[in-house]
Amino acid sequence: MTTTSASTCGERHTVVRLPEFTGADREEVCGGVPDPFEIEGLVMAWRPKQEHFGIRREGRLVAHAGLVTVPVAIAGSRTEAVGLGGVIVAPGMRGRGLGRAVVTAAVEHARGMGPDVGLLFCWPEWMPVYESLGWRELEEHVRVEQPDGPVTMPMRTMWTPLREGAGWPPGPVRLLSLPF
Ligand SMILES: CC(C)(COP(=O)(O)OP(=O)(O)OC[C@H]1O[C@@H](n2cnc3c(N)ncnc32)[C@H](O)[C@@H]1OP(=O)(O)O)[C@@H](O)C(=O)NCCC(=O)NCCS
Repeated sequence: MTTTSASTCGERHTVVRLPEFTGADREEVCGGVPDPFEIEGLVMAWRPKQEHFGIRREGRLVAHAGLVTVPVAIAGSRTEAVGLGGVIVAPGMRGRGLGRAVVTAAVEHARGMGPDVGLLFCWPEWMPVYESLGWRELEEHVRVEQPDGPVTMPMRTMWTPLREGAGWPPGPVRLLSLPF
């Protein structure tokens, strides 16, 4: 298990790589809030993450971010991106830098996963959080896989370079996977 220590606003947050992220872990970090990501109304299928990062306080999981490598077609050319998802900080613990710390540690790990770019989906209200961490909005509408065929993703899409000089080429974007 790797750990990363991030200092934000004078507070030190130790991020650990979690061997798994179970339903109980999810319940613990979400603090019993129903639909914490506000996605149940979308009735969409989601892809589980393959790598998990977390912050614990007195044994309780209080922050999580997940990563998964996904295939994506940009202007018809197939490539891969590292998807970031499941980003959550326990209610009552927000605004103290935990989100920044857990996302920063996940992105650092993503730099070694191979793809040149990171990708995420979020509601507009959360875009400033990611902008402050260097993510940029992707203006293109993104098509994503669903069990009954591709649909246009109703959430906003953001990306970040994982290597110096990496860019996002122009053209239609199609995620060749369930969203994450
Ligand atoms: C989004 C979330 C993970 C942020 O976690 P957090 O611990 O509160 O974030 P931090 O304190 O580390 O703040 C990170 C940056 O985002 C900014 N930020 C945090 N909350 C914000 C908000 N509601 N609106 C605008 N900016 C915000 C902070 O100012 C900070 O920027 P700075 O370091 O440049 O000052 C948390 O609010 C959350 O769990 N939300 C509900 C779950 C959810 O919807 N997750 C999916 C998001 S796509």
